[in-house]
Amino acid sequence: MRVPLLWAFLLCPPLTAQDGAQLYGLYCGACHGADGNGATGGQFPPLAGSPWVAGDEERAIRIVLHGLHGPVNVKGRTYNLEMPPQGAMLPDDQIAAILTHVRSSWGNASPAVAPAKVATIRAAQQQRKTPWTAEELLRDFPLPLEKSALSQLISRSYEWSKPEMPDFSTLQALNTEEEHDGLLDAADAPRKEHFAMTWEGTFTAPQEGSYEFLLDADDGAALHLDGKKLVEITGIGPANGGRSKIGKIDLKAGSIPFRAEYYEFTGQEAVSAAWRLKGQKGWNWLSREHMGARPDLEPIPIEPENGRAVIYRNFITGTTPRAIGVGFPSGINLAYSADHLAPEILWTGPFLDGTGKWLERGTNPSPPAGDRVVKCSSSPALPAGTRFRGYELDPAGNPTFISTLGQQIIRDHFEASGGTLTRRISLNSGAPVRVVISDAFAWELTNDQTGKLGPLELHIEGAGTLSQGKPFTLDLTPGTVTLTYRWK
Ligand code: HEC
Repeated sequence: MRVPLLWAFLLCPPLTAQDGAQLYGLYCGACHGADGNGATGGQFPPLAGSPWVAGDEERAIRIVLHGLHGPVNVKGRTYNLEMPPQGAMLPDDQIAAILTHVRSSWGNASPAVAPAKVATIRAAQQQRKTPWTAEELLRDFPLPLEKSALSQLISRSYEWSKPEMPDFSTLQALNTEEEHDGLLDAADAPRKEHFAMTWEGTFTAPQEGSYEFLLDADDGAALHLDGKKLVEITGIGPANGGRSKIGKIDLKAGSIPFRAEYYEFTGQEAVSAAWRLKGQKGWNWLSREHMGARPDLEPIPIEPENGRAVIYRNFITGTTPRAIGVGFPSGINLAYSADHLAPEILWTGPFLDGTGKWLERGTNPSPPAGDRVVKCSSSPALPAGTRFRGYELDPAGNPTFISTLGQQIIRDHFEASGGTLTRRISLNSGAPVRVVISDAFAWELTNDQTGKLGPLELHIEGAGTLSQGKPFTLDLTPGTVTLTYRWK
């Protein structure tokens, strides 16, 4: 049967803005977020407010057709990811509808995209087999100049040959310029080495709130807001994020005096500055260079799972390098030092935040993430010559740390429930072994076997003799001693 032409038309009506929103949800939303802000807490780049989707539509059409290969800077943040090509999956009219939706949503305000334009670009780029790079796209479609929050910006450059900030009032400017783009740029100086610069103008705060200002420089720089120095980088060194600094200030909406100072000793000349409202992702740049923005690290909590204790072997703040963290499901945590053979830090609540560990170079110690932190000791807890042999885990994940002194075996077991940490120390045979329970607190006995250990209540039962002074020690005889630690 032949379908009359009219029916064919009704079955395939032109796509509307509504269809664009639906198609966006199907084909883009998983990565760029339903609200265009980038999915998974901004791990993917935003389309809301992105200059990549504004202006000439060919830039965004090419990205959708062939994908994008990082790095790409979007709204002051660099993403080094891969967007897969969508061209084979999506016909021209659907791409046009999606981009029309993207360009007119979430505050974006660029004209609609016609299916014919997508068809033309698809045909022109038929040979293209690999995703675009940002660099290629920028060559053909440069982004519009950023509008900086600085206005009436005047730069002055000076001759200066010391690796420190000059007293500018004693210097004569070599050069004075008005920077109409409102951006700091060390390349505006007439010299390449041994110079200093200042920029003076007005910073316009869009609203009242807490602001952060980022500064990075090769070599030194300072930002002054409202006549006060907010943040400074001293000495000499590269601008690559390692020396960058952030200053914080509360501002009312409106204009305040802004001043930046900078000196270049030798080598690269670069200064970069940016601002944001506290809690915002990405930076609003005040400089031509965009350096110093370290990725915003989302916290990665390390938590006990499925009712089992979690063991974390890495640097923990406040104890020795060979620390073993244990997070019990009941919300009690300990850091056991394998160097000192002792539970050195006890705390309650969240265990540790692994952000620094997984995302940075992994050398930053993690501080306890919870509260009521108690540092029990910071010196060897077992006699010289005792060796750490490792640990065993019971089915609930509770650890027993094992050490040996000659033929003697010392087993130090920990488990927690309710608000109590239970520790069982046992010795297999031989002469008594002195165990330091705490070198930070003395033992204050309240009754037979219960006493105060700093902020903790401690109950002790079993085979051994206790000292009452500081350090607080236990002479362990063959058998087991049970210690229960409780937060008061
Ligand atoms: C599988 C995840 C994924 C999907 C699906 C996806 N994108 Fe992307 N997109 C990315 C990533 C990742 C980047 C950044 C790539 C890089 O680092 O170079 C990106 C970059 C972009 C950019 C340039 C940067 C920016 O934020 O403005 C645009 C425009 C864009 N995508 C549009 C779309 C549109 C429209 C769709 C739906 C048709 C879509 N993307 C689907 C992951 C995705």
